[in-house]
This record gives sequence, structure tokens and C-alpha cells, in this order.
Amino acid sequence: MLAIVLGCLLDVDAGMADLAGGALLLMGYGLLLMLFCSYTLADGIDRTRPSSTLGAFMNERRGSRRICAVSVSATMVDVNKITVLVTGAAGRTGQIVYKKLKERSDLFTGRGLVRSAETKKQIGGADDVFVGDIRDADSIAPAIQGIDALIILTSAVPKMKPGSDPSKERPEFYFEDGAYPEQVDWIGQKNQIDAAKASGVKQIVLVGSMGGTNPNHPLNSLGNGNILIWKRKAEQYLADSGIPYTIIRAGGLLDKEGGVRELIVGKDDELLQTETRTVPRADVAEVCIKALQFEAAQFKAFDLASKPDEGTYVPTKDFKAFFSRITTRF
Ligand SMILES: NC(=O)c1ccc[n+]([C@@H]2O[C@H](COP(=O)([O-])OP(=O)(O)OC[C@H]3O[C@@H](n4cnc5c(N)ncnc54)[C@H](OP(=O)(O)O)[C@@H]3O)[C@@H](O)[C@H]2O)c1
Repeated sequence: MLAIVLGCLLDVDAGMADLAGGALLLMGYGLLLMLFCSYTLADGIDRTRPSSTLGAFMNERRGSRRICAVSVSATMVDVNKITVLVTGAAGRTGQIVYKKLKERSDLFTGRGLVRSAETKKQIGGADDVFVGDIRDADSIAPAIQGIDALIILTSAVPKMKPGSDPSKERPEFYFEDGAYPEQVDWIGQKNQIDAAKASGVKQIVLVGSMGGTNPNHPLNSLGNGNILIWKRKAEQYLADSGIPYTIIRAGGLLDKEGGVRELIVGKDDELLQTETRTVPRADVAEVCIKALQFEAAQFKAFDLASKPDEGTYVPTKDFKAFFSRITTRF
């Protein structure tokens, strides 16, 4: 089609003796070309085609943009962005994801979900930050309505018992009533997955944790919360949902610079037996976003860690290759 349109334009150039007539014809062909590009863009954002996965959708989108770059103004590209909600957007990793989405506004319309007006203020208080509690399905419906993809970064957060002195003894932790992992990491994540499915979301990225293969993992006894068990249950629920998913089971999270380490993937907690069991939050955030851009990330679940940011390690930049190497579905 493009060849035909361009061919017509070339013919016009060659055959025009009369400049005024030529200009009129060129305008006509220009209009035709714009109509053609609008059609191509509209096709690229067709959210109703069941066979169109988000990765494929992104590829179509990139293809459409290339075609239209031939002669159509860049403002038309905006209609082709995908809308992404990150929950736990005031959390330590969620904040980074929200910021990255906003920085990449050519690709994404970013939204955040936080738990309170106070935390909304903490991340800038923009209109695209919704307030809701994942344990209450109704409260999160407005945030999920109309999104193309969901990144789940909510988690129960254990609190240190008052009076604990970590310098003298092993600190004790507890969960507040109603905020145990069962309510947050299971019911809360399930509510998000159900709402997303009902509104036709095309991909869900869920950040979980390594350690879930061992029911006796010490983290499960933290505050008697069985946190890894409930997280695992939510992961299984997502994998069974039929929605294209990416489950990232992170190692110990570090508040260190992202984009400077070689990322490594593993399965079944095998990395926990090695020296490389940690990963910067900024890298986890980047993997969450990149998972939306490559079809190879879909229907995959994997452990994520990183090599130290020193020596001869090469920082991971090629995420298509990174996701393509992963073969584990759960
Ligand atoms: N820490 C580690 O070393 C480690 C290791 C592996 C995996 N992970 C996992 O990686 C993920 C990200 O960790 P992180 O440390 O960056 O997260 P985080 O800072 O603990 O953030 C968790 C977020 O969840 C939100 N949240 C909790 N209950 C909620 C509710 N009922 N409704 C709405 N939001 C709720 C919290 O909101 P508020 O701000 O309002 O409390 C908070 O913003 C988590 O799933 C975590 O379990 C952590």
C-alpha cells in the first residue's frame, strides 16, 4: 500500500508541467496519504482484536510509526501510546516504575495507584495518581478502567515491634490487623488481577520474591505472615488467568544505581545457593517496563538477580535477548 502511494507521488512529480495543477494534485495525494496513515495507526491501536498481544501490539505500533514518519506530523503518534497502571506507586520500586513511565511518555501513558492521599502527595500528586486500597475491589476499579497493562508492585510490609533494638538482638516484626500477607499479597493481588481481566487488560507484570519454593523459608515466619506462600499463590492465580503475564521473582532488593549491572535470571530459587542473589530496585523497575515491550517476556516467570557492578561484567541492555533466553512459564 505504501509503495502504491509513494509510487503515485513519484508519478505526480515526473508528470507535472503545470505547477499550480501539480500543487493541487500533491495536496490531494497528501490527504490520501494522511488518511492511509490514520487508518494504519487506528489499526495499530485496535484493542478489540483478541489475537493481538501487547508485545505484538507494540511491534505493530512501532511499524505504524515508521510508516507515518514518511510524511505525517508527529502529533498523530500520541494516539498510539499504551496506558499502564503501576500499583504500589509510592513504594520503593513502584516509585521508580511510575517515574520511568512518565519519562517515556512517547510510549506510555503512565498511571499510579497509591493507598492514601498522603502518599499521593509524596509522588507529586498528579491527576494520574489514583487512591485506592487493593483489599477493596471497588476502590481500585477507576484506576484499572481503560488500561492496557498493569504492573503490580504492592506488598504487605512488615513492621518492627516497638522496643526492638536490632543492634542488640534479632528484631521482631508484625503485620497490622487486616494487612497480613494473606489480605495484601493474596486477596489484594487477586482483586487487581480480576479487575484487570474484567476490563480487558492485555498484560500483567507481577513482582514477587525468590524463596517461594521453600515453605520453611525464614521469611514465612516473619510476623507469622507466611508472606512467600501467599505471594506464590497470587503468582499461580495470575499464571492460570489466561492473561499474558510476566512474573519477576526478585532477589534481595538494593537501593543502588540501575542499568550498570549484568542481570541474571534463574528458576526454582537456584540462585539463592549462589553469591549473586541481589538486584537493584531500579533494575527490577526497568525489567517491569521492558516486559511490556517484548513479546518474548510474555507467559514467563523467572528469578531475577544481578552480578556486581564491578569487574568485566557487561550491563544488560538487550532486553529482547534477555527475555528470549528465559524458558520457564512458572
Ligand atoms: N525487600 C526485598 O529485599 C525484596 C526482595 C524480593 C522481592 N521483594 C518484593 O518486591 C516488591 C517491591 O518491593 P519494595 O520494597 O520496593 O516495595 P515497598 O516499598 O514495600 O512497597 C510496597 C507498596 O505496597 C503498597 N501497599 C501495601 N498494602 C496496600 C494496600 N492494601 N493497598 C494499596 N497499596 C498497598 C504500600 O503502600 P503504602 O506506601 O501506603 O504503605 C507500598 O507502597 C514487593 O512485592 C516485595 O515483596 C522485596
